[in-house]
Amino acid sequence: MTAYEAELTHIEQRELFYTGKAKSLYRTNRPDVLWVDFRDDLTAGDGKKRGQEAGKGALNARIAAHLFDYLEGAGVRTHFLKYIEPSVHLVRAVQILPLEVVVRNIAAGSLIRRIGWEEGRPLSEPLVEWYYKRDDLGDPLLAEAHIALLSLADSTTLASLKEQALLINTLLQKKFSDAGLLLADFKLEFGRLASGTIVLADEISPDTCRLWDASSRVSYDKDRFRKDQGDVLGAYREVARRLGLV
Ligand code: TMP
Repeated sequence: MTAYEAELTHIEQRELFYTGKAKSLYRTNRPDVLWVDFRDDLTAGDGKKRGQEAGKGALNARIAAHLFDYLEGAGVRTHFLKYIEPSVHLVRAVQILPLEVVVRNIAAGSLIRRIGWEEGRPLSEPLVEWYYKRDDLGDPLLAEAHIALLSLADSTTLASLKEQALLINTLLQKKFSDAGLLLADFKLEFGRLASGTIVLADEISPDTCRLWDASSRVSYDKDRFRKDQGDVLGAYREVARRLGLV
């Protein structure tokens, strides 16, 4: 155990300071470390549809911890420090960028509503999209001109985010393909450390990915909740099982 890891065994949970739609953030006894509790809440349509699945938070925390460890091992810098069973991540404190980065490999979701393709049509190369992280506006799609207009990120930062997102996509596609799953699309969030370095943050889980069985194309992700397909928890557990986590 490194000295840094040893220090992480003495982290204490302190006051709640942010409640998101599926996670609660607490401060700790260290100003640079946050305590993230993955809750059982599920929302869709910017919170218009709400539900709960007992055990979902723990499954997402476990899956996301595994994926962050895997990405770190492949050289991707993330905010993740440590998983505490069943549903907590210790993470580096970051300033979250107000951009959601979506990577798509197969047409689904809002892409097919926007461009009229049929669900399941493969894209000839991965598509990276930017969305404005603003619930009050419904997280709209942004062109790079809008990002410049709003001064959300400069062109060098956007180029680096795109490069990181595409690398993460390649790594996750491999990881899920080994588990018999297709990664149709997913959403990433990035944050800035106090040093200014931008790292991957938030979570990667069945809440934030579209994962389809490689042969039947059945969904093992939050679309089961969005589309009322039932057995949401069973689907998340199956992802964890195929990743060798439960
Ligand atoms: P979309 O097709 O609805 O734009 O979603 C693309 C991907 O991003 C999909 O895997 C679900 C994920 N996503 C989130 O994690 N959070 C969100 O708020 C939205 C809109 C999508």
